[in-house]
Amino acid sequence: MEKEKRTHKSHCIVLPYPSQGHINPMLQFSKRLVHNGAKVTLAVTCFISKSLLGDSGPITIKTISDGYDEGGFAQAESGGAYMERFRVVGSETLGSLIEKLKSSGCPVDCVVYDAFLPWALDVAKKLGLVGAVFFTQSCTVNNIYYHVHQGMLKLPLSEPEVVVPGLFPLQACDLPSLVYLYGSYPDFFNMLVNQFSNIEKVDWVFCNTFYKLEEKVVDWMAKICPLRTIGPTLPSAYLDKRLGDDKDYGLNMLKPVTGVCMEWLDSKPNGSVVYASYGSFAKLEPEQMEEVAWGLRRSNAYFLMVVRESEQAKLPQKFKEETAEKGLVVSWCPQLEVLAHRAIGCFLTHGGWNSTLEALSLGVPMVVAPLWVDQPTNAKFVEDVWGIGLRARANDKGIVRREVLEDCIGKVMGSDGLKEIKNNALKWKNLAREAVDEGGSSDKCIDEFVAKLTAS
Ligand code: UDX
Repeated sequence: MEKEKRTHKSHCIVLPYPSQGHINPMLQFSKRLVHNGAKVTLAVTCFISKSLLGDSGPITIKTISDGYDEGGFAQAESGGAYMERFRVVGSETLGSLIEKLKSSGCPVDCVVYDAFLPWALDVAKKLGLVGAVFFTQSCTVNNIYYHVHQGMLKLPLSEPEVVVPGLFPLQACDLPSLVYLYGSYPDFFNMLVNQFSNIEKVDWVFCNTFYKLEEKVVDWMAKICPLRTIGPTLPSAYLDKRLGDDKDYGLNMLKPVTGVCMEWLDSKPNGSVVYASYGSFAKLEPEQMEEVAWGLRRSNAYFLMVVRESEQAKLPQKFKEETAEKGLVVSWCPQLEVLAHRAIGCFLTHGGWNSTLEALSLGVPMVVAPLWVDQPTNAKFVEDVWGIGLRARANDKGIVRREVLEDCIGKVMGSDGLKEIKNNALKWKNLAREAVDEGGSSDKCIDEFVAKLTAS
């Protein structure tokens, strides 16, 4: 039978896990698909859609349900209950959305789904569509979870040093926390390991990294699945500048305090400010918050500190007032604009993968104080593999002390240790841009995907 001739643009539904750290990279990937001639519909949960501020540019937004339309994740009895209900209600509502788009003359060709939501592949396959999984974390971290899933990395770990195929030997504490602290968060552990539950059925595997950043492990994983590296997924204005109007992520779950931050930074000398943020998700122990606050104060540098509204009560009393000459505390900021500002000299971060890629792509030296999940592994690579920062180590109670933070910030911002870190930061910044620029490794992978989808 002759194949029906395509009369429409290739159309992808892109389905992120509903959190800022997942929406950002998948929305950016979507913009690259559109730039290459595809049409993209971003499917977000009803709950999240109510709190998304901003503009998704050329991407259409549609909603599905995770079964918790009123309160999202916070409404669920447990992480496990949330994932299970999302699987059931999400499968149903994603299927209905795809059918609805078809009957309105916008048929879908491919489902690009977050690796946290592997059931979306079953929906795609049932409807005869192409299935593409998107990993929002590093290839190294994915490789480790893959080996856990396959039973090739046995838990609990029995040795202090771990050898995982595709990687150099790692200390246990350099692995994702859910692996070396086996049993710490069983629901999250299951979700991360389940990313690989149906990997053998998927047509494409995308990872938000770039080839030169994780060359060896990318080569290894490409042997076991159709892996393509497509990152870093920063807005084009910060990398190749080929997507004219792509200047920011576009969709914020929290409102950034842009004017205040940028004016404050404008008034500071070059390289004099530490930017500190622990991402969109982390809830710090009150003791840890206090140590971070006083560590910043003791560093004697200027500091711009993001503390989400829900975390602000943990700041030491009168901290903002007492440090007003040196510091500014805000509830959310335009992180990319901040990192790209000439006044920033160092990024104190928890080492979330987006923050890591953002600092790396903008050439900002880092102090990484990892909290959990993939962050310890990211910190290891920042310090020992890419050489673009230092890891601030926690004590045996899991708290990073103010003296440790002060010391690391001093080293990164001081004239001594900085030279090598600065040179490496510049090297990786250039390589990141090269990867997404025309003919770069990530650009080629995106081209290939859209071309094959269009030809199918
Ligand atoms: C989570 C996990 O914690 C992380 O380990 C995993 O790799 C991705 O999912 P999150 O903790 O939010 O993410 O950290 P991160 O990955 O760094 O993402 C935070 C995002 O929010 C970044 O894109 C950052 O630019 C943005 N951000 C953060 C802001 O826009 N403004 C802020 O004030 C703080």
